[in-house]
Amino acid sequence: MTQSLSETIKRRKAKIVILGLGYVGLPLSVEFARAGFPVIGYDHDRQRVGLLERRRSYIDDIPDAAVAEVIEAGRFQPTTDPDAIAGCDVAIICVPTPFTKAKQPDLTYVLQAAGDVADRLAKGMLVILESTTYPGTTEEVVRPLLERSGLHAGRDFHLVFSPERVDPGNRKFTIANTPKIVGGTTGRATDLAVTLYGSITPQVVRVSSPKAAEMAKLLENTFRHVNIALANEMAILCKALDIDIWEVIDAASTKPFGFMPFYPGPGVGGHCIPIDPFYFSYRVREVDHQARFIELAGEINASMPGRVVNLVADGLNEQGKSLRNARVLVLGVAYKPDVADTRESPALKVIEGLQKKGAEVRYHDPLIPAVSNGANELRSVPLSEEELRACDCAVILTAHSGVAYDQIAKHARLVVDTRNALKGIAAGNVVRL
Ligand SMILES: NC(=O)c1ccc[n+]([C@@H]2O[C@H](COP(=O)([O-])OP(=O)(O)OC[C@H]3O[C@@H](n4cnc5c(N)ncnc54)[C@H](O)[C@@H]3O)[C@@H](O)[C@H]2O)c1
Repeated sequence: MTQSLSETIKRRKAKIVILGLGYVGLPLSVEFARAGFPVIGYDHDRQRVGLLERRRSYIDDIPDAAVAEVIEAGRFQPTTDPDAIAGCDVAIICVPTPFTKAKQPDLTYVLQAAGDVADRLAKGMLVILESTTYPGTTEEVVRPLLERSGLHAGRDFHLVFSPERVDPGNRKFTIANTPKIVGGTTGRATDLAVTLYGSITPQVVRVSSPKAAEMAKLLENTFRHVNIALANEMAILCKALDIDIWEVIDAASTKPFGFMPFYPGPGVGGHCIPIDPFYFSYRVREVDHQARFIELAGEINASMPGRVVNLVADGLNEQGKSLRNARVLVLGVAYKPDVADTRESPALKVIEGLQKKGAEVRYHDPLIPAVSNGANELRSVPLSEEELRACDCAVILTAHSGVAYDQIAKHARLVVDTRNALKGIAAGNVVRL
């Protein structure tokens, strides 16, 4: 059975179903379809599937033309029907892994998706989990669900964890040139995943188990989480010593070995950095340990939106104004530059903090037409000279490219720049992080 699936994959005849067509699943579907595989994209969101059927993409990195190309070539079929899973050779799960309100890992979507596969599992199938999660999920949560079918992992079907490394907005590194890690419950499962991903990526890295693959992803994101926190703490300490953190980072970055720059900012956002490390700390608490670096980094990063609010208040105070009734223009609400994504964006917390202190907040973001935080909905305003002149303070939270930073420096009475976006631009009243 394995031999024949391996051959089917090599001939690109293996029928692949991808569960969850978001930032991870849609690019993956397009990549496999372009490589020649027949791909079914299953998502329970009717609106998203409807858009795809009309050849429209809702993911920044995937143009409409790419969706049209693979659908019209007959190699990509989006659907909301879970029965489409039946008869597939490979199932890849790319559904969200958020937190519950109580900040516990929420595996609801993974459980739903794995349940949908379990109900249609056939002998010889290769099942891969790509959603980021704590070590042990594939073997302790997904495996028993799949085995509910009466089939056994390793004997009747193959089970693998392979972390996704998509970086939305990154033009240089995509699935096609980023190595993929795979760890199966058996060597045979890993072999099959190596063959499968080898058809879309140049390098597939084997690890000994799903746990090691799950942990590799968490280490990558924890590394970023902790280093961003270090940069944030350094920014706070440098400010106290009247040292320019940005100049210091630029200087340290000239070292060709042993240093990698990370930058301070208003906090962390997106579906990975604010969440993944805490999937890990949850897991280690279960075995009576504490992930101290993660917790401390979390505290520092979480304090940054409040710090930005204080910088605005202090800057206004210097001008004899109070934050209450001040008009504050927030620039950039996406969680990072050049993506239209506000998930966990620290900008939402900054806005909330400013509003709580009585400021009138408006915002401009070329990629986000509207945001809501709770009961409040704000709409992006055009970035005009009048808007800049009318505000008491402009706060740069996300430095999208193509924004006229020189105009901000020229017309705003006070700028709080949390991203060093005004680097090299002559500006009057600027407060930097
Ligand atoms: N976004 C990133 O940059 C990124 C990078 C690496 C890893 N990841 C991880 O990949 C996973 C997916 O993230 P994403 O950003 O693609 O999420 P997303 O929210 O963009 O997309 C998830 C999709 O899954 C669908 N879905 C949810 N439950 C489903 C179910 N039971 N059956 C079918 N479809 C279902 C949703 O409708 C949605 O379209 C997460 O675990 C995330 O941590 C994300």
